[in-house]
Amino acid sequence: MSSLTVAQRTEVIIGTGLPSEPLPDNTGRTRVAILTQPAATSIAVQVASRLGSSDLVTEVIGLPDREEAKTLDVAASVYSALARFGLSRYDTVVGVGGGTVTDLAGFVAGTWLRGVEVVHFPTTLLGAVDASIGGKTGVNLAGKNLVGVFWHPTRVVIDLDQLRTLPTFLIREGMAEVYKAGLLGDRELAGIIAERGLYAPLDEVVERAVRVKATHVDADEAELGVRAHLNFGHTIGHGIEYASALSHGESVGLGMIAASAISEKLLGFAHTESVVSTVETMGLPTRASGLDLTRVLDLTGRDKKRDAGGLRMVLLEDIEKPVMRHVDQSDVEHGLSAIGF
Ligand SMILES: NC(=O)c1ccc[n+]([C@@H]2O[C@H](COP(=O)([O-])OP(=O)(O)OC[C@H]3O[C@@H](n4cnc5c(N)ncnc54)[C@H](O)[C@@H]3O)[C@@H](O)[C@H]2O)c1
Ligand SMILES: [Zn+2]
Repeated sequence: MSSLTVAQRTEVIIGTGLPSEPLPDNTGRTRVAILTQPAATSIAVQVASRLGSSDLVTEVIGLPDREEAKTLDVAASVYSALARFGLSRYDTVVGVGGGTVTDLAGFVAGTWLRGVEVVHFPTTLLGAVDASIGGKTGVNLAGKNLVGVFWHPTRVVIDLDQLRTLPTFLIREGMAEVYKAGLLGDRELAGIIAERGLYAPLDEVVERAVRVKATHVDADEAELGVRAHLNFGHTIGHGIEYASALSHGESVGLGMIAASAISEKLLGFAHTESVVSTVETMGLPTRASGLDLTRVLDLTGRDKKRDAGGLRMVLLEDIEKPVMRHVDQSDVEHGLSAIGF
């Protein structure tokens, strides 16, 4: 078992199985509301039964699957459930599930009674290395994550035994973000993924990826600077995701190849070929076939990292050397040509 602290207030525990004390010490706590999704309900029930034995009153609240959970309507129905349950400001909200559950649980906890404690048990690899850590919460309106608050969990519990049972497609989704973390901040991690792909040892790569995320969050909680480097591969990646039926991980894999090609053109980045072969090794696509180029360009141009000077992207001078740079349309087209447009 290992443990590290993020943003001076989140204890991240990486181990096997549920800890004997799932929640941090908090003498005032009497009630715990556990938010979960269909595929993680059995884990939520295990957490509840462990807490029930320590005299806490628990309630499991089921959310709809995936992005259906991240709406104001769902948040409102959870507020009603918390009111009926009598969750007070000394009590705790727990999120057990993928990133959609931890995003919604964090949002509800950050706004209920102006903020109550939240603890996360991420059950997807993406949730473990990315969504549950760093305090970003939110729901979707017309756009993704348009409404939210920064609200850090006091604890995140990552159970490697449980992550090992995930279906391959969910490992692949998370491994794309693990590789991203390696390129940004841990050369050895990038090397492990390049060599082992989806068979990389989870204990080692989860801890390394969490450390990269923690370092960026610690340096810049409000995402005014270096934290934005975590968006490597996500500018063009989001354009592809919204213009296609590809998953987030598949789109980010393509986005990382495109961003590497632009980095090579503008900054002399020398590892584009290795990025392409690693994306392939993870079983992710390296060519975006059949997509509408104009639509991808249009959606890429709407990225949140745009400012008065135009589109800004995270590029790499080298592995472990990310920089934020303005790019123009011909740079983006150069990146897209590297993935088959
Ligand atoms: N807050 C942040 O900093 C941050 C960062 C990255 C992503 N996110 C958010 O995270 C979400 C994506 O995360 P995700 O992919 O984990 O989403 P998710 O919650 O939709 O989970 C993906 C799938 O995994 C299934 N699943 C969950 N636990 C399982 C288990 N134990 N066994 C089998 N299947 C299981 C779910 O039912 C779901 O179908 C997005 O909404 C994204 O915006 C947030
Ligand atoms: Zn991502």
